[in-house]
Amino acid sequence: MSTLPPLSYPVLNHLGCPRPLELAVIIPTFNEVDNVEELVRRLHHVLAGVAWEAVFVDDDSTDGTAAKLHELSNCDPQVRCLRQVGRRGLSSACVEGMLSTGARFLAVMDADLQHDEALLAGMLQALRDEPVDLVVGTRYMDGGDVGEWHTSRQKISTLATHMSQKMLGLNLRDPMSGFFMLRRSSFEASVYGLSSIGFKILVDLVASSPTPLRVKELPYQFRTRLAGESKLDNRVAWDYLMLLADKTVGRYIPTRLVSFGVIGGFGVLVHLAVLRVALGLIGPDFVEAQTVAVTIAMISNFFLNNALTYRDQRLKGWGVIAGLLKFMAACSIGAVANVGVAAYIHSGSGNWLVSGLAGILVGTIWNYGATAYLVWIKPKRRRTTPSDRT
Ligand code: GDD
Ligand code: MN
Repeated sequence: MSTLPPLSYPVLNHLGCPRPLELAVIIPTFNEVDNVEELVRRLHHVLAGVAWEAVFVDDDSTDGTAAKLHELSNCDPQVRCLRQVGRRGLSSACVEGMLSTGARFLAVMDADLQHDEALLAGMLQALRDEPVDLVVGTRYMDGGDVGEWHTSRQKISTLATHMSQKMLGLNLRDPMSGFFMLRRSSFEASVYGLSSIGFKILVDLVASSPTPLRVKELPYQFRTRLAGESKLDNRVAWDYLMLLADKTVGRYIPTRLVSFGVIGGFGVLVHLAVLRVALGLIGPDFVEAQTVAVTIAMISNFFLNNALTYRDQRLKGWGVIAGLLKFMAACSIGAVANVGVAAYIHSGSGNWLVSGLAGILVGTIWNYGATAYLVWIKPKRRRTTPSDRT
């Protein structure tokens, strides 16, 4: 039996001693090629003397970020790059990064230098010396600042903060912060309850912790990006609502069904608006106007579900046409089931509201189940190419 040759390099940390890693800084990246080198340089500066590593988690960037990170990690043992293919999401990237390290403390920060790296030393000090589990960089306390934000983004951030405080009872001044450090043991206690949806990993971690975390908040000033563009878009807001749904009713109802139901409710409004307009244009032929309204509502529901509910399995190209036809066929059967159930209950009880709602419930569940099975089937192994990325 052959034996492995001895290692040609010493198993020591970067300080040259067999000391375990104390801190892993997890940095999610999507198209940040011009920021990562400068960030690593600054981490070396502020964390001098600490046994740390940087774990970049790249979601298959199209600008060469992963290649740049591999280049950095080839000559710097403190830099690692995990690359995810076929998935996309800030929270899930952070979770993968946190799972990949054995460091005692875990920090999460953005790659674009908006988060003030100088705060890392204070965060680490607090975790080392104080009875706290989580240190959050906050923009909403003395000494903190949101920087150059449009008033609209500030308002949305304030609203989102209130929602997590009221709906999840989070006692954090800045739950939307993407800059924090925690004990790995605290992360591991939360990990099985994480939703990993969207952008707000801090909200997810705190809400998933089985015991209340002892939190310390430190102020920082949100800076402007060094290079590249923000990835925050309207879908991030939707994902946040889905995270709140998952954290509140998710135990009873799948989040995709919540999303499907909300889009269905919006479809009713589309239907009524189109019906009103069509009646004006077509004249008194109600059946024709109703047919137009049903068709347009179904098309709008299909595209919204494809973009939001099934973003991770989004149909593209010809798949959209085939998917739309299957969606309409499945929902037509759902409409028949809806009317059938409502009529049956109505014949027994005579209560129009209860019968109508029961029909809607059965129709929605049918539509959800049938379209999940027929339209957005999850392939066993999904292949993606760079052109799939947005
Ligand atoms: N792996 C991965 N996958 N990384 C992503 C993705 C993704 O889908 N989307 C964004 N990122 C990375 C970016 O490359 C960046 O390093 C970081 O996540 C934050 O993204 P930005 O696009 O810069 O977001 P922002 O500046 O508008 O908002 C950030 O800061 C806010 C204030 O702390 C986020 O961290 C927000 O969650 C936070 O509220
Ligand atoms: Mn940013």
